[in-house]
Order: sequence, then C-alpha cells, then structure tokens
Amino acid sequence: MSSDTYVLGTAEIELQRLGRQHAIWRDDTLAAWDRAGFRKGQRLLDLGCGPGFAALDLAERVGAEGTVLAIDNAPPYLQHLEQQAGARKLTQLRTLALDLGQKQCAETIEATIGSAGWDGAWCRWLAMFVPDPEALVALAAQALRPGGRLVLHEYVQWDTFALHPQGEGLSRFVQYCIRHWQANGGDPHIARRLPKLLEAQGMQLVSARSLMACEPTAGPKARWLQDFLSSYPQQLAAAGVWSQADQQALEADLEHAQHHPSLWVTPALVEQIWERPAA
Ligand SMILES: C[S@@+](CC[C@H](N)C(=O)[O-])C[C@H]1O[C@@H](n2cnc3c(N)ncnc32)[C@H](O)[C@@H]1O
Repeated sequence: MSSDTYVLGTAEIELQRLGRQHAIWRDDTLAAWDRAGFRKGQRLLDLGCGPGFAALDLAERVGAEGTVLAIDNAPPYLQHLEQQAGARKLTQLRTLALDLGQKQCAETIEATIGSAGWDGAWCRWLAMFVPDPEALVALAAQALRPGGRLVLHEYVQWDTFALHPQGEGLSRFVQYCIRHWQANGGDPHIARRLPKLLEAQGMQLVSARSLMACEPTAGPKARWLQDFLSSYPQQLAAAGVWSQADQQALEADLEHAQHHPSLWVTPALVEQIWERPAA
C-alpha cells in the first residue's frame, strides 16, 4: 500500500492538535533526549517530524553549531516547519521530504540524508503509520554513527485506551481507530515488533520505559485523550466508518465523565533508546 498520505491528514485542525499534543508530552520528550545524551553541537535526525514542534526544540538543543534534519513526507507540515525555523532564525534546522515507509537504496540515503554519521535520531508516532517498519528501522540504523542513539516513542498496545467507568461509545471508537489504521497499512501496537527489527540491524537496546498514564478527567494526559476525541471521530465519519449513533454513544460517555469521578487510561506508549554499537 502507498505510504504517501498520513491517515490523520494534514489539515490545520490536525496541525494544531499536534502542537497541543507536543506541549503535553514536551517534558517527557526533553527527559528522553537527556537520557539519550542529545546535546549541543550534535547532528540529529527527526524522523516523521510532522509540523516540527519537537524538531524546533531539538534545534534549540543542538544550538547554532549543531544540525537537525527534520524528515517527513507531508509537504504542508514541512512548509510550516520551515516558516517557524525561519522566524526563529534556527539556521541549524533543515527539512527533507522523503517517504520513510519504503526501502531506500544506500545511494538514495547517501544522497538525501548523507553518509552514516548522525549522532542521534528521534522518532515519535511515525512507526505506527508506516506499512514497512523494517525499511524505517534500516534507514535509522544506517544513518547513525557507531555509538549514535535512536530514541523511539511508539505504542506497544493502543487498546489500553479506556475511560472508567467503561462506556460502550469509547470502546467502540478505540476498536474503529485500530481497524482504520490497520486498513491503511499501519500498526497501532508497533513497539512490540520493533525490538526484533532493530536487533536484526545490529542495534542494541540501552533502555526502555513505560510512558502510559492513568489520570482523572482534568489531568494533562486525560485532556490529551479528550482533545483527540474532539477531532478524530469527524475523520472516521468522513472515511465512512463512524455513524451518528456511534458519535452519540461517545458523547454520552464524555458527558458522564464530566459530571462523575472518572479515570482515563492512555494507549500504552513506550520509550526505547537504541544504540548502534561501535564497530
Ligand atoms: C502523528 S504525526 C507525528 C509527528 C511528530 N513526530 C510528532 O511527534 O509530533 C505522524 C507523522 O508521520 C508522518 N508520516 C507518516 N507516514 C510517513 C512516511 N511514510 N514517510 C514520512 N513521514 C511519514 C506524517 O506525515 C506525520 O507528520
């Protein structure tokens, strides 16, 4: 299946949501980069950068003497990032339009990303959307220098996403999302397959941790889930897989959660830090 379109789209509503999402996950992101040793002067990749909210932070981190190459296959997102980088005079930030879901030959990688010598790569919420994660993993492994590190934030099990007391509307939404992404070539439980693929590329796991959260309705990660529920059902409806009755059942669950003590459980997100060993 072609991987030239992002299943959640590139409309302004999704761009804005990605910005709010990054703000909520920013502290976890910066902590992951600290653990990986990402620092001033380094050359770092952002794989599947989207509109670049994290790439801008990466560029601040490496400073003027470093380099960030932000890669995505969605031109509207790259244009947004280029404007933001220009406004902030972050000349160390470059963008590249490339399909990361298809195998690239060594010559293409050399011509686009450059020779293996990157100090690190950041990859969040990309692997779950690419039909061929082996290609993505191979590219990341080839691009890193010995000792270079890849930081992944991806889901290991998406259907832990729940609201308790459990409502039928939200459970159905979760199942429909999973089916929709799978039908578009993605895998919302991708992190469970990544270790085998990375080990096959000679990469070694440095650390792994859970980023899963369980919070009451007003908590930041719970608000992140509610934010997603305010936009994505419309996209499922536009794709013809979400009915008026489904939406009413979901809204009844959300209404209940506003007026009763409730707990939100996020999809099971994990952090993995991998290293390319010295030759
Ligand atoms: C959920 S967004 C995540 C964006 C960013 N990593 C972040 O954490 O905010 C997924 C991104 O992956 C990009 N993407 C999906 N499939 C891709 C592919 N085959 N090649 C390159 N980028 C892809 C989309 O265009 C989108 O920007």
